[in-house]
Amino acid sequence: CVHLSATPESAVSPYACQRRTTLENHNKIFTEALEVLALNSEFSGNQGSCLGFRRAASVLKSLPAALRSPEEALRLPCLGDNSRAVLEEICECGSSSRVEEIQNDQRYRTMKLFCSVFGVGPKTAESWFCRGLKTFEQVLTEPSIRLNRMQTAGFLFYEDISVPVSRAEAAALKMMMEEALLFINPSATVTITGGFRRGKEFGHDVDFIIKAPEGQEDRILPAVIKRFKSQNVLLYSDFQKSTFDLRQLPNHRFEAMDRFSKCFLLVKLQMQESRTGRNWRAVRVDLVAPPLERFPYALLGWTGSTLFERDLRRFARLERGKLLDNHTLYDKTTKTFLPANTEEDIFQHLGLEYIEPWQRNA
Ligand code: CTP
Ligand code: MN
Ligand code: MN
Ligand code: MN
Repeated sequence: CVHLSATPESAVSPYACQRRTTLENHNKIFTEALEVLALNSEFSGNQGSCLGFRRAASVLKSLPAALRSPEEALRLPCLGDNSRAVLEEICECGSSSRVEEIQNDQRYRTMKLFCSVFGVGPKTAESWFCRGLKTFEQVLTEPSIRLNRMQTAGFLFYEDISVPVSRAEAAALKMMMEEALLFINPSATVTITGGFRRGKEFGHDVDFIIKAPEGQEDRILPAVIKRFKSQNVLLYSDFQKSTFDLRQLPNHRFEAMDRFSKCFLLVKLQMQESRTGRNWRAVRVDLVAPPLERFPYALLGWTGSTLFERDLRRFARLERGKLLDNHTLYDKTTKTFLPANTEEDIFQHLGLEYIEPWQRNA
């Protein structure tokens, strides 16, 4: 391991939005263990402990070198007793007995399996597990279970969706999107957001944000869906029309979804050859189309990572008396909305150094 003092006493911020977190993780053995603990807490409905482990993992991801000893963790923020105990054990034994116990736990394994299906979250997974179901086959043959449309598609295309989407595939989908927009409205543009904008090589889906001319944002997504349908490339679509209201204050609850026009899709991506004998594979695609003047907030909100977004909002509220969400930024003191043309403007309003998308992998 490299010694941390390579960076002299520069303190690590407890806010992910004040850290630069690239994809180069020097503390994988620790962060992977902490993320197992976080997921296990999430599956047990223990959100506080889940967030605690996620924050601890995120701090370690931002470090310029590997932790050499558990004592080094003492001067890091967000590392509680539970997280530090895990680091200690890994430093001493190379692994954590608690993490291994969880990974062998029937409930954890089953919850993880069920949650890997598109449309299945911890609540549904738990209800299935509590009925004694442990495999997909048992779920699919259980007469009392009624799958919704999303879950049905999730099982139908499970093999395809569980293969990570590559950067090349994301680029091919972007061309599909561009072709559709050229047909629908040539002055609309599409930008890749989510994990691929942060530089990831693979993703579980591809996220796109559409910039439409003023007043046209609500028509774009239904037109894209119609176009994909007519091309026979649409396997599933869940369109949510805009409930956006210009005058609404930002929502401090991070879990609340934004109110922009958006859709969650499963599309056919053309391929040269395939294990399945088809010339296409199913890929998850998310689209959002905000009003033009809200584009920078939406872009910032959809770029992630999730923890980075959460901390941006927490920082705005607790350190700056401002409310931020995917729609807008509001100053509680002056009772005004703060305008922005770019993401840089939003960081500036918050008195934060600009963090590039590839440094937001918190
Ligand atoms: N997001 C959002 N509102 C939604 C769905 C997603 O604001 N209704 C945001 C999330 O907060 C996240 C970003 O969109 O910041 C991307 O979400 P997601 O695709 O789930 O995660 P990625 O970071 O792209 O990871 P992956 O590569 O696995 O897709
Ligand atoms: Mn490095
Ligand atoms: Mn994504
Ligand atoms: Mn997504």
